Amino acid sequence: MLIAQITDIHLTPNGVFAQGKANTEQQFAQVLAAIKQLKPQPDVLLFTGDIADNKQPVAYEKFRKMIAGIGIPYYLIPGNHDDRTMLRAAFPDHPGMSARPGQDFIQYAIDEDFPVRLIGLDTHRPDNDKGDLSAEKLAWLEEALSEQPDKPTLIFMHHPPFLTGIDEMDYYNLAGTEAFADVLSRHKQVVRIICGHVHRSIQTVFAGVLTSIAPACAFTQALGLGPDGAQGFILEAPKYELHLWNDRDNFISHTVNLEYNSGAFAYPTHDAGFISKQ
Ligand SMILES: [Fe+2]
Repeated sequence: MLIAQITDIHLTPNGVFAQGKANTEQQFAQVLAAIKQLKPQPDVLLFTGDIADNKQPVAYEKFRKMIAGIGIPYYLIPGNHDDRTMLRAAFPDHPGMSARPGQDFIQYAIDEDFPVRLIGLDTHRPDNDKGDLSAEKLAWLEEALSEQPDKPTLIFMHHPPFLTGIDEMDYYNLAGTEAFADVLSRHKQVVRIICGHVHRSIQTVFAGVLTSIAPACAFTQALGLGPDGAQGFILEAPKYELHLWNDRDNFISHTVNLEYNSGAFAYPTHDAGFISKQ
């Protein structure tokens, strides 16, 4: 099973650049073009939030037009720059979009024929760019995980459940992480957690689970560790991640940096016979 994770696209209305600088439509187009060229094709695309740059319906229309014809199932969850009501309007047939009383969040499990079950969590809070995993969201998760205790499960979410050391982004952190860790301690089938939000590639172990932040499709967060670290963002080429579930029941993750995607070359020092045997 091959998952392509695309995060933090930050699409804008026509003529507007994200943060005044980033042509995020062009960056997303570049990522989609690269994914179309992949062999093998991913089985699924996971979008871990911030499809829109600033809660604009036109951003979701643009996303739908750009991804039409990709031919790969895709799933998304909201980021802090998204709007649940607009997502529901733009993706009415997408799982998790029907609001239930007391459960206005967009969370769902994908129980396809994949060897790994996919669970989308909603860390968005409408009043703030910080995230939360409320008691209601975690009660939903507890129930969802109880349904299939033996199937390896990947959780995808926007805000990471850990502090990164980048103060500028840790300010917009996630509440409810201790209770989230408690839930995970009771459900050992969770093999991986993937996130967005920070616009950099970052990994740690959270509650015994490898947890990663994928670099953004849009602009990159400066590497500002601590209070005196750099702030702001860097314009880099877009990036995405591939998570390969291998025959040893383990995820292997690759970051794809399109900046260097200028050709494919054989190593001049490698044995040509080895390559032909693959
Ligand atoms: Fe973002």
